[in-house]
Amino acid sequence: MVNWQQLEAKYYMQVVARTPLTLVRGQGARVWDDNGREYLDFVGGWAVDSLGHCHPVLTQAVCEQAKTLIHTSNQFYTIPQTKLAELLIENSCLDRVFFCNSGTEANEGAVKLARRYGKLHLDGAYEVITALNSFHGRTLAMVAATGQPKFQEPYTPLTPGFANVRYNDLKAIKLATTPQTCAVMLEPLQGEGGVNIPDEGYLAAVQDWCRKKGLLLILDEIQTGMGRTGTLFAYQQHGIEPDIMTLAKGLASGLPIGAILAKEKASVFGLGDHGSTFGGNPLACAGGYATLKFILENDLAAQVRGVGEHLACGLRELKQTFAFVSDVRGKGLLAAIEFTSDVAAEVVAACLEEGLLVNKLKANVVRLMPPLIINTSDVDEALAILSKALSRVSDKLEDK
Ligand SMILES: Cc1ncc(COP(=O)(O)O)c(C=O)c1O
Repeated sequence: MVNWQQLEAKYYMQVVARTPLTLVRGQGARVWDDNGREYLDFVGGWAVDSLGHCHPVLTQAVCEQAKTLIHTSNQFYTIPQTKLAELLIENSCLDRVFFCNSGTEANEGAVKLARRYGKLHLDGAYEVITALNSFHGRTLAMVAATGQPKFQEPYTPLTPGFANVRYNDLKAIKLATTPQTCAVMLEPLQGEGGVNIPDEGYLAAVQDWCRKKGLLLILDEIQTGMGRTGTLFAYQQHGIEPDIMTLAKGLASGLPIGAILAKEKASVFGLGDHGSTFGGNPLACAGGYATLKFILENDLAAQVRGVGEHLACGLRELKQTFAFVSDVRGKGLLAAIEFTSDVAAEVVAACLEEGLLVNKLKANVVRLMPPLIINTSDVDEALAILSKALSRVSDKLEDK
């Protein structure tokens, strides 16, 4: 049998600390490795596999599109792109969309749009205020936007034009606002930064400040969008409307796609101002259209609220049971378990042995982001495995 992990070690750039598992097949919330072992997948492709693995609706849409027309370039009109654009706009507070290939690229486009707006309407203002502990992507500009030194330090000097301030701190945004500021960019719940939930009223207060100062409010919903937190978009839970919103991850349930959405007033790109060769190609958009249509027609966001509450209850019980669980938090089907010490890797390994895939977010934090189609019995199965895994790690801690 081919040892794929050895081959990878020889040929692939070593930038991800991978779980020692070669996955070859998926169905629903389950995946199988190259030895035929089955796992319950609570990583979900890093919050990407909205409909789970190989959902028949998605598979059929993508196969049909692959047999019909895969790519044309944006020189031409294509039907899947227009259909997905219409469905997104008709179901959000934004007026126009542009498709790209990833979250980072969507955020780059959003910042370009804000700078263009600054040139046209704010006397050339170009600076974007972002939050500490945020995550906006890996390109050079998005590394500067991402307020985490570990992502920034290897790549200094940073791209200018970003101010990173404390999350949940309106005063910090006010203090960082200068005549050069054109926008504030935030996640409505910080995913990679630790599953950090905003304080009640924070996002609404930021919106008020932006309106008062004429700044654009950009929401990065790359991780929170598409029903993940229990509404189609997280902004809907805060009584606010962003001027610009970015999407990617769960938008096409696994096909690479990103999107920049903007209100008409912020939609200031002119002909030739922005572009993408692959962005919005028929294959990715057919996947996005099938995904969004399924989410809407089946009210998956409501299902996420119910199943997410069941998960939250179970996580709270785990916290009561295990003294080394210091916090459990989340929204919908995006959750984190925090520990009093750096045992996340051990918890991930113990879950793996028991057939559950979870994600190490930090040395002391494990994250859960299963497909949105899971049901309460999948959650019960995951909780039972987590409980066993935590018992094992707890025994080890006591032995030390
Ligand atoms: C909130 C947020 N923004 C941007 C990104 C970057 O997306 P991508 O990895 O598709 O470039 C991520 C990825 O985790 C994210 O969670």
